[in-house]
This record gives sequence, structure tokens and C-alpha cells, in this order.
Amino acid sequence: MRVLALETSCDETSAAVVRREGNSIALDGLTILSQDIHRIFGGVVPELASRAHLATLGPVVDDAMRQAGVAITDIDGIAVTRGPGLQGALLVGVTWAKTVAWRERLPLIGVHHLEGHLFAPTLEDPGAQPPFTALLVSGGHTMLLDVPAWGEYHLLGQTRDDAAGEAFDKVGSLLGLDYPAGAAMEQLAATGNPARYRLPRPLLKQAPGESTYEFSFSGLKTAVLRAIEKSDNLERDRADLARGFQDATIEVLVTKTKWAAEACQRDLVVLGGGVACNRALTAAMREAVAPFARVAVASPRLNTDNAAMIGAAGSWRLVQGERHGVDLDARDALPLPGLFTTTGVGV
Ligand code: KG4
Ligand code: ZN
Repeated sequence: MRVLALETSCDETSAAVVRREGNSIALDGLTILSQDIHRIFGGVVPELASRAHLATLGPVVDDAMRQAGVAITDIDGIAVTRGPGLQGALLVGVTWAKTVAWRERLPLIGVHHLEGHLFAPTLEDPGAQPPFTALLVSGGHTMLLDVPAWGEYHLLGQTRDDAAGEAFDKVGSLLGLDYPAGAAMEQLAATGNPARYRLPRPLLKQAPGESTYEFSFSGLKTAVLRAIEKSDNLERDRADLARGFQDATIEVLVTKTKWAAEACQRDLVVLGGGVACNRALTAAMREAVAPFARVAVASPRLNTDNAAMIGAAGSWRLVQGERHGVDLDARDALPLPGLFTTTGVGV
């Protein structure tokens, strides 16, 4: 099945053409246009994001189809991110997908953005299939899931406040880096002294119980702010602070993921979302779980927001026979389909 996929949930305008045969997916075309207008505002401006998607989505789709060497008549289905994300930005992609699906009489599937991140490693590693434990770390989410099967997501814990990527971005901004700051923070941290700042490891010392798999990053961000206020030479201290923050964040993410994979007796750990581009995180995760599990993570281009992962997830749902009608809506706060809390109640 050949699927045209679209992703417009935030500040990347992306289209992809993927072909699924069983568990293996060929990526025939992928275009990702990052909107850099937001840089000058230090964060994504929703109205500008919607307008940029509207202006560029057509050419972006044409480019992905040109790479794949296909016309719309070669496509078997259309997948589009329907949420969560910025409402106006999502509406651009959903409206485009519905219109083309209706005109071409093609099956349509709306995809949950985070399910896309979970499927991303399968684009390069066909063995990255359930059962596995997953850590989703993006600009908007930090979630630990157990995944016994595709479409069945058991929520073990999530962040109580900031997402991990958001914390990287906010701390990066405090240290004078442009938005989004994650990649630059990683580079800066690599040159920092790990022994200078021992920052808090939030919720790591909790006794096993409710908060075992929960995260919190806002206190860590405040700890960096206090250290900046105390510094008499920020230029000298910035790399050390970036290192202190990154080490604390990684230790919390890795330790809890390891606990979860052990408790769920999984031999595969999947990392997804933009923060999974961080090589210090993936190296620490591999080392921590090496005795009992391997780690699957997509390459950076497929880890940050892109339409290929939406095609991977959407084509799986289309193959299951799922379809959305022309009444498909976009939702900024969409629950993950098949998400269960540990109490077994869908949220
Ligand atoms: O998944 P994503 O592209 O978008 C969302 O769905 O949010 O994730 C973007 C986030 C940003 O917060 C960005 O700073 C972070 O991923 N990020 C990183 C790295 N590369 C991107 N964080 C830490 N280290 C990186 N190398
Ligand atoms: Zn994302």
C-alpha cells in the first residue's frame, strides 16, 4: 500500500510517500520544511505557523511526490496528523488531506502525532515492533509507555509540568541559545565540565508508588535559573550549566525507562520525539538497558517532526481497515487512541 502522508501540527511543513508491505516500510519521498520565522520570536507563533503551512504545503507535497516519482493516481491512501498540536496548523493539513481524499476517492486516516513518533524507528529498523517499552520525549510531551501491541498503549507515567524538550528549550534560552535550543544545548553540554554543577534529579528518589514513572522538569529549570543568577561570569559557566542540566535530565529519563522496561519484562526500548536525537541520551540509555534490552531510535531527520512517521503509523491503521470520513476534525488536545492508564481506564 502506497500512502501520501502530511504533517503540519507545529512548525514543520512535511509530506512523505511511503510504501508498506507487512512490517516493512519503504520511504520513497520525504520533504520537511522547517519554518524559521519563529526563531526571531523565541518560540512558535501559532498564527504565523498556520499561514506558513498554507503557503507551502502544496509545493512540499509536490516535492515529496516528485522524489517518489509518483502521481496522485498511484496513491492508495492519505494519512494526516489530526492532533495534538496547534489547532490552526493542524487544520491546514487536515483540510488539504480531506479535500484530496474526497476528490480522488482515496481512503483517509487521521493520525495521532505521538503514534507517529512511536512508529518512526520502524522506517529504518523493521524489527522495532511491539512488544516494547517506549519513552516519548518531544517539545510537548514526556511519556513512558508500555506497548504490548500496536494500537495498545499503557501509560506508565508522564510529566507533571514541562516536557523534556520544552525544558531543553527554556534552559537554552536562559543560556542565550536560539529556539529550538535542544541540538545547540547538546553541543554546548559536550564541552562542559560534568563536575561543576550537581543539579536536582526530580522525582528520582521517590519510593516505588504512584510517582515512580512520573517526571517533572520545571524545578530543574528553576535550579538552572538560580545558578545563573549566582554566576559572576556566565560566559565561563554556560557550558558547565548546560552539562549539569543535560546530565540531570538524562539520568532521570534513563533510570525511569530502565525501571519500566525491567518491570514490564521487555527486551526492546523505543525512543521517540525530538529529544531522542540527543546522542548522550541514547548512549546512556543503551548502556543502562544493555544487560536485558536493545534500544531502537530513528535517525534525527525521522525523530523530529516529519510526515514519514505519520505515513508509517497511518499505513498501519489503513491496513487494519480503519478509515476516517470527510467529517475528520483536527484537535489540539487529542488523546492517543488505545491509551490506557495503569488503572485500565482510557484517557
Ligand atoms: O518531536 P519534536 O520535533 O516536536 C514536537 O513534537 O514537540 O521535538 C522538538 C523538541 C524541541 O524541544 C527540541 O529542542 C528538542 O526536541 N530537541 C533536542 C535535540 N534535538 C531536538 N533536545 C535535546 N537534544 C537534542 N539533540
Ligand atoms: Zn513531535
